[in-house]
Amino acid sequence: MRPIQVFDDKMEGSKAIARHIAHLVKRRREEHKPVVLGLATGSTPIGVYEELVRIHKNEGLSFDHVVTFNLDEYYPMRPSSQQSYSWFMHHHLFNHIDVPAQNIHIPDGALAKNHIPAFCRGYEAAIKNAGGIDLQLLGIGRTGHIGFNEPPVSADSITRLVSLHPITIEDAARDFGGISFTPTEAITMGISMIMQAREIVIAGWGPNKAAIIKKAIEANIDEQIPASYLQTHPSVKWVLDKEAAAELSEMTVHTDA
Ligand code: PGA
Repeated sequence: MRPIQVFDDKMEGSKAIARHIAHLVKRRREEHKPVVLGLATGSTPIGVYEELVRIHKNEGLSFDHVVTFNLDEYYPMRPSSQQSYSWFMHHHLFNHIDVPAQNIHIPDGALAKNHIPAFCRGYEAAIKNAGGIDLQLLGIGRTGHIGFNEPPVSADSITRLVSLHPITIEDAARDFGGISFTPTEAITMGISMIMQAREIVIAGWGPNKAAIIKKAIEANIDEQIPASYLQTHPSVKWVLDKEAAAELSEMTVHTDA
């Protein structure tokens, strides 16, 4: 995949990402090796998961050697709640493929607060024990967040409990039936773990993301724009639809695409 790919619509972009992931999963299977995927939630990856489920069902791609680590979870949040990212992942992906339950890792939003730091250290240790993340899938929030790393965030931030930005809370409120019901905190992987992934694929769809995507790709690296740290990653691909790419300068798109 090229560093910036612009598709007519999000369906086409989602299919391209799914094919890319499927190719990696298949190759590792042929090599009899596991593969570690870092996974994202929100509206952005839904089409990717749909296509992976289709490839599993129609083309027989197995995920039984796949290990997954999700980026984040709201706090507090019961995993069984329909608003949890745990529920989201099972609903959109895990219930429909053959990834073993013990290979699935999602931050636990139901912990007592004083247990969170130890849990976060364990989460990072589990990623390292699994061999590190081969491919990290990301969306981008209107605040420029990746995972729930809201601005300002440092490059060496680790997995931790964070406060959500008011814009993120506003965007999440539609899933919670109003701002007053929306969690204000979350557990998220930090920038440092995201940047250690061997490969990163970040997707963005629609006009609401165009301004922040321009900043993340074209502005200087800045703690106020968390996704701008990706500029220094050796293997990052942006997959955008036309609307999300609309504000990029001609040169960015033509140089990279
Ligand atoms: P969205 O959120 O996919 O629901 O737009 C993206 C994100 O916050 O990372």
